[in-house]
Amino acid sequence: MANITRKLLAWYAKNQRTLPWRVSFNYANSGQAPDPYKIWISEIMLQQTTVSTVIPYFEKFIKKWDCVNTLSQANENDILAFWAGLGYYARARNLLKCAKDLREKFNGKIPNDKKLLLGLPGIGEYTASAIRSIAFGEREVVIDSNIERVVCRLFKIEKPIKQSKIEIKKYASQLFPEYHSGDFAQALMDFANSVCKPKKPVCKYCIISSSCLSLKHNVVETIPIKQIKKNKLLKKGYVFFAKIKPNKILLERRPSEGILGGLLGFPTSSWNIKKDLPMVPFEANWSFTNKVVIHQFTHFKLELEIAIAELENPKFDTSRYFIIDNENFDIMALPALMRKVYSKANSL
Ligand code: ADE
Repeated sequence: MANITRKLLAWYAKNQRTLPWRVSFNYANSGQAPDPYKIWISEIMLQQTTVSTVIPYFEKFIKKWDCVNTLSQANENDILAFWAGLGYYARARNLLKCAKDLREKFNGKIPNDKKLLLGLPGIGEYTASAIRSIAFGEREVVIDSNIERVVCRLFKIEKPIKQSKIEIKKYASQLFPEYHSGDFAQALMDFANSVCKPKKPVCKYCIISSSCLSLKHNVVETIPIKQIKKNKLLKKGYVFFAKIKPNKILLERRPSEGILGGLLGFPTSSWNIKKDLPMVPFEANWSFTNKVVIHQFTHFKLELEIAIAELENPKFDTSRYFIIDNENFDIMALPALMRKVYSKANSL
């Protein structure tokens, strides 16, 4: 085991990715420590989102909210608008709640105590152990889905990951070193990204291939075993795209409770398994286009039929809806579902 660990750390020293929240080996050797604030923000963003998507968001976020105290005073709608496109918006709401807790209870500092970390909004086992090891150099066994893949392959665990958590933890605990567990976690993540990839792993460049039981038995590409996916529930509804003459569109800020809560979008009907008769948000010459936008949420698939209307002097509830220029409108302020609606509706 120690041999595998040593080889991976040596591989990381040479091959680590340069990432904006990371302190490289050279800097670490000169005594520069990672910034716990940056590690926290990056680890939250990296949940369910790829490194390449996260990098530009992370850089802008750190410029806008440069420390816990600034973030704790941010407006939730600004953070949600910033988060548009990253998905899983509970992460953004929890960041704000967590920053407020950090300011009030911890003087704006991120604690390194595991129990205290786990008591903060949005911080679970993975994030707490990533923060403790990467930001504070504490010994932790960090396990994310990439590390799970490497461990399953190395030890030829032939059950779906969901059913192998205890076994994976047992093997990972043997691999993680006493010191440098943050570097080791990141070594595994980078290695999983460029060598032990989900598809077409490059075993010929793998520095630990001689220890890999899956390679020995020629089953690398079948591990981890895929869990048979249940078909997702399909929900249906309508989305209402109102063009206001000459060149404006109508948006709503969605109610703060519920899915996409607090985010900008076009008004929709409720989303149900049976497509109801359309309940229009306000009177207009709605034309139902038969064109749909499809979007996958974690637990269901959504199909919204687009209804379009053109209005001159709209009468609507101004506490709920507002109109903006179609020209200077930044679609990046919309969540992914609403970006799809915007593109499709504008092309009809
Ligand atoms: N994915 C999650 N955390 C990461 C990190 N610190 N480095 C690279 N990939 C990651």
